[in-house]
Amino acid sequence: MSLQFSEQSLSKVQEMIARYPEGKQKSALIPVLHLAQDEFGGWLDVPVMDYVATLLNITPIEVYEVATFYSMYNMKPVGRYLFEVCQTGPCMLRGSDDIINYIKTRLGISVGETTPDGLFTLKAVECLGACGYAPMMQLGKHYREHLTPEKVDEIIEECRKLSAINN
Ligand code: FES
Repeated sequence: MSLQFSEQSLSKVQEMIARYPEGKQKSALIPVLHLAQDEFGGWLDVPVMDYVATLLNITPIEVYEVATFYSMYNMKPVGRYLFEVCQTGPCMLRGSDDIINYIKTRLGISVGETTPDGLFTLKAVECLGACGYAPMMQLGKHYREHLTPEKVDEIIEECRKLSAINN
């Protein structure tokens, strides 16, 4: 298999495994999957999950089970900016459905889809532990809170500008 973590990530993996007693290396699966997602293009393709299984000396199915259970792992390619909008009770009561619908209309995509320019992906996820700031979403490593259509417009604009700068 040609897939391989960078040396820096490989040493992080070793560090993660070393946090657990011998034979319990599977416990490092969640952080290793995060690392893999970050390093291999923002999603977990089957060969990536198989590679993680090899590294942790567990079976591929053990990796698939975890990777497909949590919404924080992407099972298909995502855009440069991933909008993960919380749709659980408290956010829903504060209008997350309207926010999701607004984003859908604004970007012309449905939940789970990516814009044709590869910039935006919309995901609906469960509680992100920021219910007091509802409705909210995760964008990269940051939370965007008390969302309104105006704020969504600002965020989209901000992403577009950032993307233009980084191109
Ligand atoms: S319900 Fe949305 S963050 Fe908790």
